[in-house]
Amino acid sequence: MRAFIALELPGRFVDEMTDLAQDLRSCVEGRFMPQENYHLTLAFLGDAYEHEIASAMAALDAVAIESKPIPLSCTGLGTFGRSNDATLWLGLKPDPALTSLAKRIREELAAKDVSFDEKQFKPHITMARRARMPHGSMPALGFPHDAQATRITLFKSELTREGAIYKPLYSVELG
Ligand code: 2AM
Repeated sequence: MRAFIALELPGRFVDEMTDLAQDLRSCVEGRFMPQENYHLTLAFLGDAYEHEIASAMAALDAVAIESKPIPLSCTGLGTFGRSNDATLWLGLKPDPALTSLAKRIREELAAKDVSFDEKQFKPHITMARRARMPHGSMPALGFPHDAQATRITLFKSELTREGAIYKPLYSVELG
């Protein structure tokens, strides 16, 4: 199954992102993510075997006992891809606790022989896909206040015509 490990976001942060998305809709066309899909990916496993899923759960357990809640602080918006067909995301400050959490999870996965995408960790939360970015300036936007994330989850991702559906398989609390 297609799977990934992500930091879940606190409710207030998600609500504030939803307000931001609402403001962005006035100037950006695209497929905006439903708020239940907001997450910060720490490691993308892709198609994983059952035994890798079990090992990924064990990796989460190993990391959770040594980790504390993670500070979340927005840096602004960014895009991947072309400006008329972009992935629009909210960037997060690479706080040392966040960076080391991603590093530790990836180390545990590697130690357990679980494959994952080794692209460098770039903390971001995707807000819209297939986005057409405006040529001019954006309206004044309100960004989520600083917050703390306390849960990491292994998600199953099902690709459908309407977009991906993410189902939590296993979660651990930090600190
Ligand atoms: P993205 O939002 O920037 O596309 C589920 O697809 C999650 O895994 C998304 O957060 C996605 O990031 C992330 N991800 C990381 N590497 C990926 C890859 N190679 N293919 C698909 N998704 C990937």
